[in-house]
Amino acid sequence: MINYTEKIPNNVDLGRDRVLQRALEHWQPAYMGWWYDMGPNESHDYDVYLRTAISVEPDGWAQFGYVKMPEYRWGIFLQPRDEKREVNFGIHRGQAAWQEVPGEYRSTLRRVIVTQGDTEPASVEQQRMLGASCPSMYDLRNIFQVNVEEGRHLWAMVYLLHRYFGRDGREEAESLLARRSGDADNPRILGAFNEPTPDWLAFYMFTFFTDRDGKFQLCALAESGFDPLARTCRFMLTEEAHHMFVGETGVGRIIQRTCEVMKEHQVEDPSDVRALGVIDLPTIQRYLNFHYSVTLDLYGSDVSSNAANYFTSGLKGRFRETKLDDDHVLTDAEYPVSEVTGGKIITKNVPALTALNERLRDDYIEEIADGVGRWQRIIDNAGVRFRLTLPHKGFHRAIGNFAGHFISPDGEALSQEAWKNHESEWLPNSKDYAYVQSLMSGRVVEPGKFANWIAPPARGINNQPLNFEYVRFN
Ligand SMILES: [Fe+2]
Ligand SMILES: [Fe+2]
Repeated sequence: MINYTEKIPNNVDLGRDRVLQRALEHWQPAYMGWWYDMGPNESHDYDVYLRTAISVEPDGWAQFGYVKMPEYRWGIFLQPRDEKREVNFGIHRGQAAWQEVPGEYRSTLRRVIVTQGDTEPASVEQQRMLGASCPSMYDLRNIFQVNVEEGRHLWAMVYLLHRYFGRDGREEAESLLARRSGDADNPRILGAFNEPTPDWLAFYMFTFFTDRDGKFQLCALAESGFDPLARTCRFMLTEEAHHMFVGETGVGRIIQRTCEVMKEHQVEDPSDVRALGVIDLPTIQRYLNFHYSVTLDLYGSDVSSNAANYFTSGLKGRFRETKLDDDHVLTDAEYPVSEVTGGKIITKNVPALTALNERLRDDYIEEIADGVGRWQRIIDNAGVRFRLTLPHKGFHRAIGNFAGHFISPDGEALSQEAWKNHESEWLPNSKDYAYVQSLMSGRVVEPGKFANWIAPPARGINNQPLNFEYVRFN
């Protein structure tokens, strides 16, 4: 029997919710089994300096201390309820926000929750081997923090399934522990979550690009008329910010280190740069191209009747829905989408309702462009001549209007053959992966030390010094 209030910090009155307790009694041991199998490899005895959310109050959502990860207190938190909240968009606009699942939207909502929930354990699985090649104790602690919080995000979605979807919810919750990233027979639901994360450059790119897709999906669900989903997602967003920080600063520190070495030794040629044990900028550009393009696919088809239905029925809003100045119903509005016709990329207006995936993707791209701009400033400030670019959004796409077309990073529609001729310049090739892998053959874990290929961060975690013992290996 689990002592709920102590083991599972929550603000959902778990101590008195028998139905939820019974569901968790089955699921929690299965979750622990999954964590031992698929959580960070060989990490179970480590004491890790982690933050834990123990309440939603400002002083409670980030409590720092040493924790063994299997003893992490995965909690269930929802942003406190606003009694006056309404459905803010779609045909139910103006109704009181729903506290129970509307019968007609039950299966749609369940699918939305399962799809979001599936990404959370998937990324833990993708990253599970990286501890063995960490560039520092600081970075090791950060990946573990991301991992336990993705675990908590799974809990958040499972809470909704258990609490609001009865038996099929419980079955879905079990399936979330059964699928495996990259598994041929039982893969994770979305493509990017079945790609390997083979090295730390890929990890930082993933947390910058793909965790940010998570942010935008959560923002859209945080607008949901189904209030418990909205409130759950709002709280998850507080944690997501750190994941993207890890990604942006991780890539930024790699760029910084590369530029320092290039300047110091007066080298520009990638092979000379590699000879000095840092990652050349063209390789970083190729990783960027890969992670950006596979993440763009996560938003789905440019024109989608599903997206229109989610919106019209009040289940999934737009990015910052309530801040947008329009009718929030979109009956007559239009939105531009691109397609390839006769070997040319053209843009045309379609009903805005059907283009909501594309719109969310565009909102995402805007934020990504800002982050890439900040990476560029690191290069410029170092006095290195190199331009980091975001490829055209049609580049290397497998879903939507660009799928099946061969678009160059510059946005030119090419023949398959012409595109393939350039593939190894545009996407990480086997030599790139092998080189990056060769830099990361072992882990750097002496407090305050960093691998040669990455600069130290500007500051430590929770005001601790850089040479703080973030992980105790025991
Ligand atoms: Fe997450
Ligand atoms: Fe995340």
